[in-house]
Amino acid sequence: MSHFKKKKKQLAFNRFSTPATTSVMQTSPDIEDEEGGTSMAQDMEHIETAIEASQKMVVSREKEIGEEAEKPTGPIGLDIGTSHIVMSQNKGRNIYTVKQLNAFFTVPYSKFTKKILVENDVTFLEKHNQFYILGYSAENFANMFNTNTRRTMEKGLLSAKEDESINVLQAIIDTLITRPDKTGEIVCFSLPGEPVDGLNSVVYHESILKMYLTSLGYRPISINEGLATIMAELSNDNFTGLGISMGGGMCNICLSYLSVPVISFSIQKGGDYIDSMVGVSLGEPATKIKTIKESSLNLARPPKDRIETALDIYYVDLVSSLLDTLEKVMKKSDKIPKIAKPVPIVLSGGTVLPKGFQDLFERSLGKVDLPIAVSEIRIAEDPLNTTAKGAMVMALSEAI
Ligand SMILES: Nc1ncnc2c1ncn2[C@@H]1O[C@H](COP(=O)(O)OP(=O)(O)OP(=O)(O)O)[C@@H](O)[C@H]1O
Ligand SMILES: [Mg+2]
Repeated sequence: MSHFKKKKKQLAFNRFSTPATTSVMQTSPDIEDEEGGTSMAQDMEHIETAIEASQKMVVSREKEIGEEAEKPTGPIGLDIGTSHIVMSQNKGRNIYTVKQLNAFFTVPYSKFTKKILVENDVTFLEKHNQFYILGYSAENFANMFNTNTRRTMEKGLLSAKEDESINVLQAIIDTLITRPDKTGEIVCFSLPGEPVDGLNSVVYHESILKMYLTSLGYRPISINEGLATIMAELSNDNFTGLGISMGGGMCNICLSYLSVPVISFSIQKGGDYIDSMVGVSLGEPATKIKTIKESSLNLARPPKDRIETALDIYYVDLVSSLLDTLEKVMKKSDKIPKIAKPVPIVLSGGTVLPKGFQDLFERSLGKVDLPIAVSEIRIAEDPLNTTAKGAMVMALSEAI
C-alpha cells in the first residue's frame, strides 16, 4: 500500500500544526533528495495542492453511452469498485469525476449485430465469437432481455467466476481513460484492505491492475479504500480518524493517524449481501430488492411491508458484523495509537445512502466497546464519489 513517504509526512505534520511553517518550508532550497529526484520545496507544493484538493467540491457525472475516454493531462484517481469505476481529475476549483458501471453483457457474434452496435455507439469488446457489451450499455441490454448484467468483480476483487474478468475490466477502464499525455502520469487506484472473513487476498488483484495501468503508460500507486475516505473527508481533522467505505461488494475500514494508516481491513459483505440475503429470505430476485432499496428505503421510519422489514434486518446485520469485527481487530492489535482527543468516524459508499443510516450506525456503535473514543459520526459529502476523490488527493501528493 502506498501512503505519504516519511519526509512528506513530516512536512504534512508541519502544515497541520502551524500554517506559518508552510511559508518557511516553501522557501527551502531546491535540493535533490537522497532518493534522487524531487526537491523538498516541490514535495511541499504537492502536499499543499493535495490538501487544497481535499477541500474542493466534487462535480460528478455518469459516462455517457458512446462518449470517448479521456486523455488525462495530470494525476488521476481511480476508484475500482465492485459496482462502479469512478475516475477523478483535479481541474480548477473542483474535482471532476466520471462514473462507469462495472458490468457487462454478452451477445453472440454476427456481422449484422456488429454494424448495429457500432451505429448506436455501444461500447463493446469482441472475443471468443461474442460481443462483451460494457458499462451502462450492458445495463440497457440486460433490461431488454429481462435478466442481470454480469460483473468483472465480486466482493471487491477480480471475479474468479468469470473467465474473462481481467480483459473485460481492462476494457471498462479503457472507456474512462486512454494513454496519458505524459508517460508515467500518476494514477492512484483504490484497493480493498485484506479481507478478514475470507480466503481471498488482494495481492493478485493489485498486481493485475498495476501491470495493466503500467502498460497503458501510467505510474500506478494504490490507496486503501478506507484511507481514501479519510483523505477525502478528514482534512479538517488532520487526517486522523476512522474511514469506513460501505460499497456493493464489501466494507473497508481504516484507522488513520495523521494520514498514516494504523489498521486497515475489509469484510466481504456490502450492499450486494443485503440484496441477496433479503432475496433469499423472501423468495424474490435480488435485483428487485436492490431497486426498492435504492429508490425508497428509509431506515428512520418503521418498515411498511415485508421487504422493508427484511431490508432493515439485514442492514442491522451488516452494520453489527462490521462493528463486531472492528472491535475484535482493534482489541487484538498492539498498534492502536494513544490519541489524546476522540476521533471522528466518516462513512462513505453507496450503502450509507438510505435516510436514517447514520442513526442506525450510531445505535450499533453503542453496543460495541472500541478502544478509542469517538467524537462524531458523519456521512461523507458525496458518498458515491468519496473514494475517487481520496485517490485523487493521494495522486496529487505523489506527483513529481
Ligand atoms: N440510494 C441508495 N440506497 C441504498 N443503497 C444504495 C443507494 N445507491 C446505491 N446503493 C448501493 O450502493 C452499492 C454500490 O456502492 P458503491 O458504488 O460505493 O460500491 P463500489 O465502490 O462499486 O463497491 P465496493 O467498494 O464494495 O467494491 C450497491 O450495493 C448499491 O445497491
Ligand atoms: Mg467502493
